[in-house]
Amino acid sequence: MKIIRANDYADMSRKAANIISAQVILSPDSVLGLATGSTPVGVYRQLIEWYKKGDIDFSKVRTVNLDEYCGISPTREQSYRYYMNHNFFNEVNIMPENTNLPNGLAADFDTECIRYDRLISDLGGIDLQLLGIGHNGHIGFNEPDQAYGKMTHRIELNQRTIEANARFFEDASRVPHYALTMGIKAIMQAKKILLVVFGEDKAEILYKAVNGPVTPSVPASIIQLHPDVTIVADNAALQKFTFD
Ligand code: GLP
Repeated sequence: MKIIRANDYADMSRKAANIISAQVILSPDSVLGLATGSTPVGVYRQLIEWYKKGDIDFSKVRTVNLDEYCGISPTREQSYRYYMNHNFFNEVNIMPENTNLPNGLAADFDTECIRYDRLISDLGGIDLQLLGIGHNGHIGFNEPDQAYGKMTHRIELNQRTIEANARFFEDASRVPHYALTMGIKAIMQAKKILLVVFGEDKAEILYKAVNGPVTPSVPASIIQLHPDVTIVADNAALQKFTFD
């Protein structure tokens, strides 16, 4: 595991974008696993800037996102499809048909989860998976104390996650209680993992995820067992770490 220290949010975003950019330059038809949340917004902004300068080409890139809320239309700004279109896809030359998220409006969620796993496998798996981390250590929407062996599945969000994500909704009562998420097993099958972490409020969970026991009560701790993980985090998020 490599831990890269960034001075601030802009530096974290630039460093992570550099890693994604290198991936796409080296393998233009890469399959990128993408994440939502506030942390990666700056990464997408940086990639858009480099695309606009002509430094990076997304025309052959395929993407699969980690998760989507159940029951929210993709046209609503709280949906992760809307987030991805507006924060990234609409601003670069990626083909819309090459962008994938679980369908939170599917009539049958079990069938949708099977479709999503098959899609990832038909794409040849994920080359680089971008991740954020929730305050309770969740990755994607894999909440604490779930079985590690899951592929894409429907999950009930816990109260802490609902409260943390309420800022994107009119109020907490509007946050959906269910989501579809790639499971831990699916995330661990990605060839490379890039975790971005920002801010003092993530310092404790980041420390636990990296240095604590590998346990389903801290879902992100599983990445200790992945052979190719890079963490890009700012000084505040890394304040519990000591470096030589
Ligand atoms: C949501 C997403 C996660 C994300 C997490 C942290 O729950 N499903 O993928 O990592 O929020 O978000 P933020 O970066 O806003 O702290």
